[in-house]
Amino acid sequence: MSVKHGTRWVPRELPAGVPLYLALADRISEDVQSGRLIPGARLPAQRDLAEQLGVDLTTVTRGYAEARRRGLLSGQVGRGTFVSPALAALDAGVGRGTPGVTDLSLNLPPRLESDIASEALSNTLARSARSVHSMALLAYQDNAGMQSHREAGAAWIGRRLPDADAERVVLTCGAQHGILVLLSRLAARGDVVLTERHTFPGFVGAAEYLGVRVRGVDTDDDGIDVDAFRKACRAGARVLYTTPTIQNPTTVTMPASRRAALAKVARQYGVRIIEDDVYGMLALDAPPALSSYAPELSYYVVSLTKAIAGGLRIGYVLSPTASDAERVAAGVRVTTWSAPPLMAHVASDWVRSRVAADLLKANRAEATRRQALAAREFHGWSWHANPSGYHGWLELPDEWTSAEFVAQARRRGVLVTPADAFAADADSATAAVRVCVTAPPGRPELEDALGRVRQLLEVGPWTSARTM
Ligand SMILES: Cc1ncc(COP(=O)(O)O)c(C=O)c1O
Repeated sequence: MSVKHGTRWVPRELPAGVPLYLALADRISEDVQSGRLIPGARLPAQRDLAEQLGVDLTTVTRGYAEARRRGLLSGQVGRGTFVSPALAALDAGVGRGTPGVTDLSLNLPPRLESDIASEALSNTLARSARSVHSMALLAYQDNAGMQSHREAGAAWIGRRLPDADAERVVLTCGAQHGILVLLSRLAARGDVVLTERHTFPGFVGAAEYLGVRVRGVDTDDDGIDVDAFRKACRAGARVLYTTPTIQNPTTVTMPASRRAALAKVARQYGVRIIEDDVYGMLALDAPPALSSYAPELSYYVVSLTKAIAGGLRIGYVLSPTASDAERVAAGVRVTTWSAPPLMAHVASDWVRSRVAADLLKANRAEATRRQALAAREFHGWSWHANPSGYHGWLELPDEWTSAEFVAQARRRGVLVTPADAFAADADSATAAVRVCVTAPPGRPELEDALGRVRQLLEVGPWTSARTM
């Protein structure tokens, strides 16, 4: 449970091997990060906590002072100690922090209980500042990214495509930017780009922005239907945009046989593929990337933002050839010159030092714990999810429309996203909602929100107060 105003917080057991006051400050920090301690929550009086923990008063006084020094606590002598309310403003990233509402509508990496990311960030920044290369990170760099950053990108992509080499890698500001740049290179205004019937809205937005027409292709439980794809290719489509692993929103992962069959058709018609693999590394058992079946046609897009941290905004595009990569880099030049070298440096450092691998593992583990909660809550309902993915797809009973369900859920204090938001085109209507299990700060909040969604399913639309 989160510690709200007026309830009592007690830290978990303080670890041995560190001075106790620092251990206490660390516990406060962890609980603030995990959402167990929310901004404004009151901490126990120092004397009470000392008694409860069996430590002397000075330890608690110094622990609180250390936490205050870190900007975690505020308060005045005699009036109590509180989690700094200013943290609410700092933390109010997208989807974090609307009081009374649990937001299950955004696909974010989960907030972790451990300090891996914050420790890694301070180490990386401290080392970078002292490095002889620090000024290079503040200078304009090549549009494709610095050579060492492209190499780190190739290493990251290499987890899914072992042949990736730095000459074919271009850094972008996240996968969204990669998609925009690729669409602008591969499709002209008025061209048709194919995708799953329900697809990532950021792709549809980019296509609309560029005047490219999007057509949804029929799918089944294994992803894009091969015959429907062939028909659309025959009708003149130029490009396929697809997310073959943990598709957003349906969570479908295409088996290897489907990837091979789609690649064969693409090759037959010379249709280029944009493979969006932002969730590929979350899946433990993902088949080889689609790009490996038609490397000469495929542009592979990935980022560190989904698997590692949303605010890093570093992504990579792997092109079929080095010359194709140069053309992609030209697209980066006109949109942003280059991905920010300092952020790319953080990303590269983490890829090389294994921080990225550790964070990926931790994010995956947290997502797995949360998916288990969702699987339990939605047992018996039409719930689709990858066991280590960030989101799930809830198909609704016939009596619901997505819009009605979303409105009723909102009245119950839970935000979910209607299927319509993911419709590739006007033919893609269905009654379903996407539920993101990693969006809320803590598991207790998630469990509570999932319970409210399940109750809504049980109650049905007629008994809910929709006429109010
Ligand atoms: C399928 C898909 N691709 C790309 C993105 C955007 O990723 P990034 O944050 O790296 O721009 C998202 C974000 O939700 C997504 O779901």
